Amino acid sequence: MSPAELTHERIRELLMTAHEVRVEQLFVEADRVRREHVGEQVHFRGLIEISNCCRRACLYCGLRAANSNLSRYRMNPEEVLAAAQKALQFGYGTVVLQSGEDTSWSTSDLEELIQRLKESTSLAVTLSLGEREVDEYARWKAAGADRVLLRFETSDPELFGRIHPSLAGRGAVRLGMLGELKRLGYEVGSGVMVGLPGQSADTLARDILLFAELGLDMVGVGPYVLNPDTPMGDPTSFTVPDQVPATVERTLRVIALTRLLLPRAHIPSTSAVAALDPAGGHSLGLRSGANVIMPNLTPLSYRLNYLIYPGKAFADRAEESVHEELLSWIGSLGRVPGCGAGGRTATRSA
Ligand code: 5AD
Repeated sequence: MSPAELTHERIRELLMTAHEVRVEQLFVEADRVRREHVGEQVHFRGLIEISNCCRRACLYCGLRAANSNLSRYRMNPEEVLAAAQKALQFGYGTVVLQSGEDTSWSTSDLEELIQRLKESTSLAVTLSLGEREVDEYARWKAAGADRVLLRFETSDPELFGRIHPSLAGRGAVRLGMLGELKRLGYEVGSGVMVGLPGQSADTLARDILLFAELGLDMVGVGPYVLNPDTPMGDPTSFTVPDQVPATVERTLRVIALTRLLLPRAHIPSTSAVAALDPAGGHSLGLRSGANVIMPNLTPLSYRLNYLIYPGKAFADRAEESVHEELLSWIGSLGRVPGCGAGGRTATRSA
């Protein structure tokens, strides 16, 4: 199945078919395309959750400002640098600095942190900090940051608006920002949640085609996980005709379709997949088109409060033991740990 054959209608059909053999063929084909274009290396991105404070009110996310059922923290720069040393020790090529939208990590604090990371390590630095200003992202690029992750969450403007109360004086900015970030020279990643209440197969097919139109370097997708501490945590909340179910299996189909459309993209087997299937999730993702894993390097005392959704996998396990386990999974799949930063490759075709 070439990208040209993946029309909207075909994608919609592959998302919704109950025909198990066809779904299995999709996974096998995506695995083949992954092997051919990005090889057997699995790149590790060490995730450092630098703050769980957030000014936003996204209806599905546990970090939303109004949630008082978690203790808020902000790591200090020394702690972040120590976590990055672990990434080096494990041979990872990248750290991802992730947080809620927390402006008390100021532009210059982050600038200094990025500079220190780049001076003291050989790591690529990815930012996953939400809707900060384009000027700020420009400063962080100049300080040495390499990549940005910003999911657009859904391409349906009505659904987006319903679940993302905007900041005063600001509309839906994410799609525009992805273009700006690219112009700034970042490698850019985005993605969506699979099975959001109100997400139809049509909408999700459009999301997947949009990944390709945007020419993304990285695409992260995970199942929507109900969080009872949010307004969307009520399992009886609305659905639409052709509602996409929020399952691991449906997420694997999205990973596979994304691989077929963007053969050279970096696609993680995400933590939300592992949250729903701690024993098998990562391996399933890696066999359906994914080539990246993002092990958590946040100090244990903070990690348990970075609760976007419940059931986070490995939340109480030391980084060393998780790392060993991931290595053995990768080996058992016949794959090898990635070398170097694992960034965009020169021969990118899409
Ligand atoms: N279930 C699954 N993923 C979620 N995210 C936020 N809340 C949830 C949830 N309840 C995802 C969003 C965000 C990323 C950091 O986490 O897609 O971009």
